[in-house]
Parts: sequence; C-alpha cells; structure tokens
Amino acid sequence: MEFKYIIYEKRDGVATITLNRPEALNAFSKEVVEEVLQALEDVRNDVNLRVVVLTGAGEKAFSAGADIKAMKGMNALKARELSLMGEKLCLALENLEKPVIAAINGYALGGGLEVAMACDLRIASENARMGQTEINIGLIPGWGGTQRLTRLIGATKAKELIYTGKIIDAKTAEQLGLVNMVVPAEKFRETVHQFAVELAQKAPVALKVAKALINKGSEISLDAALALEREGFGVVASTKDLQEGVSAFIEKRKPVFKGE
Ligand code: CAA
Repeated sequence: MEFKYIIYEKRDGVATITLNRPEALNAFSKEVVEEVLQALEDVRNDVNLRVVVLTGAGEKAFSAGADIKAMKGMNALKARELSLMGEKLCLALENLEKPVIAAINGYALGGGLEVAMACDLRIASENARMGQTEINIGLIPGWGGTQRLTRLIGATKAKELIYTGKIIDAKTAEQLGLVNMVVPAEKFRETVHQFAVELAQKAPVALKVAKALINKGSEISLDAALALEREGFGVVASTKDLQEGVSAFIEKRKPVFKGE
C-alpha cells in the first residue's frame, strides 16, 4: 500500500501506523485521516496482524491536533464536517476488534490527544506533553474530548484541562490515569514494540471480546453489562485457544494462540 502522510509497517504481528507530517507536528489533515483509515481497514482484514501501534514521526510530536491552518474562515458546516471526520477516525480505532496502543512521543494536543484517547492503551515517552488546548484558540474539543477525557479521568480534572487548555507532562498524565505508563525517551520505540509483541501473543478472541465488553459496558447498566459479559465468556470459552491455554498450563509450556 502506498501512503504519503503515514508510514505503515507490519512486524511480529504488530501493525505500526506512524503519522508522518513532522513539519506540521503531525497535525491531522483530511489526507492524514483518510490514510490512517485505509491502514486500519488493512489491519482489520489481515489475520496475522493482532495489535496496532499508532505513533508520530520525529521526536517532537505524536500529533498537535486538527490542522489549525485549515480552520481559517471555517463556518459551522465545515466545522461539523471536521468534527465528523475526527469522530470517524476515533470510532474506527475504538471499534477495531484488535488492541490499539497510542505511543505518545512528544506533543499530543487537541485532536491529537482525542485520537490517543480513542486507543485502548496509551504509552507515553517521558518527554510527552498532553492537553486539550482548543480553548486557547477560542474552540472546544470536537473529536470526543469532552466525553472521553471525562470518562478516563473524571469531570473534575477534565474540566480543569479543557477550561484552562494547559499542557501537562507525562508523569502528571500517568498520575491522572490518562496514560498507562511512562517510558524513557531513548528506549521508547523499542519498549512500545516489545509491549505490543507481548500483547500480540495473547489469545486474539479473548482480547477482542474483552475490548468490546469494556467499551460497551461503560455505556449501559451494570445488569445489562454483566449479561453481556456472561455471553462473551461463553464465546471465549468455546475457542480452541482456551483449550490450548489450558493444555499449555498443564504441560508447563508457553501457549501458542491462533485466534480460533
Ligand atoms: N495545525 C497546523 N499546523 C500546526 C499545528 C496544528 N495543530 N501545530 C503546529 N503546527 C505547525 C506550526 O504552525 C509550525 O509550522 P510553520 O513552521 O509552518 O510555522 C510547525 O507546526 C511547528 O510548530 P511551532 O513552530 O508552533 O512549534 P513550537 O515548538 O514553537 O510549538 C506547540 C509547539 C506548542 C505544539 C505549538 O505548535 C502549538 O501550540 N500548536 C497548536 C496545538 C493546538 O492547539 N492543537 C489543537 C488544534 S484544534 C483541534 O485539535 C480541535 C479538535 O478538537 C479537533
């Protein structure tokens, strides 16, 4: 597949999508979003790919958000289109039936942070800087930030970040529960890949069902969510992978999961 604004690589069962517009701090233009969506479609269709890593090119940014320069003269209809475009990308990440890791190297601001929050896990380099900075240009988050940030860290801190537009460092983000872990900058890409490879060796159907249950469960009643979990548990229990896991445990060896 030929791409201009992203780099798409496949290695060890891991698909790495690198936003590649470093001269604009990997800001999301329409073209960048379209290319990421195409890559995600390829991941969806390739059974050998079990985990996705989304990251940014260069050392400075994961992504500085939506393209501010394209907002000059923007009217309400265009703004709605921009919002829909980001929502579509975030939902594609959230609904992909494979784990997605945002590898946050440098700035993740505005739409950049919103896209990272639509991923399942966030690993930050110690030089990462995050914020919902839209307020500083007289805007609000439009790619789910008011909702996903609140769900991830609670209304108190979400309001503080969205109202002030302040940029926080990786350690603070970790303390808030916004990122899963912080990794030294010099070992960042290697550590993320290693983590992704370990995840790629887990049972794919179990990962897929767990992702769906966690995502859906937060939107419905506990009763309904527990009923879904029960059904999901049954589905996962019917896989060959469960039998492989049980046999491997008894035989004291590492399981080899096939996603069957
Ligand atoms: N869109 C378009 N271009 C951007 C950009 C963005 N979001 N962020 C940075 N750039 C460009 C800059 O304009 C600059 O380009 P030129 O060299 O052509 O001038 C280049 O990237 C490098 O940026 P800076 O010179 O500004 O780098 P810096 O180190 O001085 O500052 C920064 C870094 C603090 C991240 C600063 O660039 C910045 O504040 N960027 C904007 C971040 C932001 O507010 N993002 C939210 C966008 S709105 C949004 O995302 C809405 C939504 O919810 C969907």
